[in-house]
Amino acid sequence: MATPIIAPSILAADFSRLGEEVRAVANADWIHVDIMDGHFVPNLSFGPAITKTVDGITDQVLDVHLMIENPEEWVDQYIDAGADCVIFHVEAADDHVALARHLREKGVRAGFSLKPGTPIEPYLADLRFFDLVLVMSVEPGFGGQSFMPDQLEKVRTLRETIDNNRLTTLIEIDGGISEKTIGQAADAGCDAYVAGSAVYGKDDPAAAVDELRRLATR
Ligand code: DX5
Ligand code: ZN
Repeated sequence: MATPIIAPSILAADFSRLGEEVRAVANADWIHVDIMDGHFVPNLSFGPAITKTVDGITDQVLDVHLMIENPEEWVDQYIDAGADCVIFHVEAADDHVALARHLREKGVRAGFSLKPGTPIEPYLADLRFFDLVLVMSVEPGFGGQSFMPDQLEKVRTLRETIDNNRLTTLIEIDGGISEKTIGQAADAGCDAYVAGSAVYGKDDPAAAVDELRRLATR
């Protein structure tokens, strides 16, 4: 297996020191940027301006998770803001394949995510259009929630389908990932791991990133 990708979520960072907080995880592979619109999820975070600010702070891959309605209307603003990977929710998209094509044409990686209650099976035939699938292991909307182990079944199904079809689509998991849970996610076949509170809740975020990577290495 390749080295696990660790993506700290800046949702759990201290926004008053955003620059320092991003620089504190310079050893992380990606930076996960959670966008919430107060409609698709019952919380608001930030938008393209903060995304652009983060892009100006670091050269790390910006993994932008859009928890928003009408993603078609917004994706270009996030691409312009410096997103390297744009992840939208299938529950919110009119045509997930058309949107993935648009993202790739614009030169960014295309990802889709799904809420815990949304089955993966209807999307398995379309994986070739996507660079990444983000499996939610909590209800999207808030950091600091408990990991839902039943979502690992989706990861196992994805792993099998991706490997059997020799696809390169990455499997990322988001929600409740910590030193206690990341091993299960790794065993199920994840490639990338979002961690908010398990990184920024620690005194030494960089050490937390290294430890998560070590625990996910198979
Ligand atoms: C939840 C967000 C997550 C969140 C993860 O809706 O998509 O990325 O920041 O936070 P933790 O790791 O604390 O569960
Ligand atoms: Zn997220």
